[in-house]
Amino acid sequence: MKNLIEFLDLGLQPLANNYQKKGKKITKEKKYKLKIQFNKKTKLVSIKDTFSSKIMFNNKYPYRSSMSSTMLSSFKKLSLEIKKNYKPKKILEIGSNDGSFLKNFDKNITIGIEPCSNIEKITKKKGFDTYSEYWSKKLAKKLIKKYSNVDLIYSANTITHIKNLDQVFKSILSILSKKGLLIIEDPSLLNCLKNNTYDQFYNEHIYVFSLIALKNIISKYNLEIFKIQNLNVHGGSTRYYIRRKSSKFKIEKSVKIQLNKEIKYGLNKIKTYRSFAKRVMINKKKLIKIFNNLKSKNKKIIGYGATAKSSTILNYCNIKENYISYFLDTTKDKQNKLIPGTKIPINKYQRNIPKDVNYVFLGAWNFKKEIFKKEKKFISNGGKFIIHTPIPKIL
Ligand code: TYD
Repeated sequence: MKNLIEFLDLGLQPLANNYQKKGKKITKEKKYKLKIQFNKKTKLVSIKDTFSSKIMFNNKYPYRSSMSSTMLSSFKKLSLEIKKNYKPKKILEIGSNDGSFLKNFDKNITIGIEPCSNIEKITKKKGFDTYSEYWSKKLAKKLIKKYSNVDLIYSANTITHIKNLDQVFKSILSILSKKGLLIIEDPSLLNCLKNNTYDQFYNEHIYVFSLIALKNIISKYNLEIFKIQNLNVHGGSTRYYIRRKSSKFKIEKSVKIQLNKEIKYGLNKIKTYRSFAKRVMINKKKLIKIFNNLKSKNKKIIGYGATAKSSTILNYCNIKENYISYFLDTTKDKQNKLIPGTKIPINKYQRNIPKDVNYVFLGAWNFKKEIFKKEKKFISNGGKFIIHTPIPKIL
């Protein structure tokens, strides 16, 4: 514990993916203190107070990877690379969501693990072997009995959601073949700090990885990163290709390049995090100023993309139903519900942004390109977006 240094306090927050039904009597939401800390020894950045997986990932989980064409094409591209370069005989995906990655492979060679049964069902219905269970040693043991070892494990935006990393990596090691390959991808800490995207921190994101920290953590399991890819998904993610130290994959230049970038930026030093925290506080003031200014001019403001991320911003900045009339979102399970910690309703996205809207707060800023393309008409008619990264501004 003495290695942990708190550097950012994002106040009291609700569970970010816990959407209450609109119109119903609102039950008191569970709130927690969102404080972010840095481990001096491992350089790992994590949130201080955490919840059990069962509270966060259950049969009401709303997130669907397939809601974004950016995610679908990223998975497709990776699957082509895997088929070409690694030719796995068995692929295991930890956190397979609605099968957006696995659907690129033959059903006979895939296994999907997805504890949120409402989403796991979607993949199962398509004929894939899926398990609605949390990733654990027990589950790995069960899978080995049925399938024997696997030669490729993939996990996107999942490992950082699991508190007990020791169990995660030990379970992976127990089922990964000797020459096997582990690929994990998660939002990049370097991008988060560079772009002031403090909304990457919420209850589900227990960790935000840097290469420096991940390298330190996995080395005790005799695992090693041999290749890095930087991706533009989820506001800038890093994909880590990991081998057993004893295996033959060649260590590529990309690892050293990323490591140098992270060291140069100072991801190994607490002072870097302290100055990030200062920028976050300045950005909070700037964003509130923008909303107050528009409100005083009676502008109609809505939100676009009811992301878990935006719940952190709105609650931290206290921007609630008095500023934002409603959010639009394409995800069925989020529609007719409320943004956590607020009374802002989430409405179904119907082809266009309505004509009476003047400003749109971009909750899904990570899909800016995709959304701006879709909303060309709104923009050409003079509609404006409000974005909080890297500094709050109107676009
Ligand atoms: P995302 O940023 O992937 O997730 P989170 O912060 O919750 O991890 O979520 C994007 C949200 O934005 C998702 O609810 C779907 C929604 N969305 C739209 O409504 N329209 C769009 O065009 C896109 C790309 C996303």
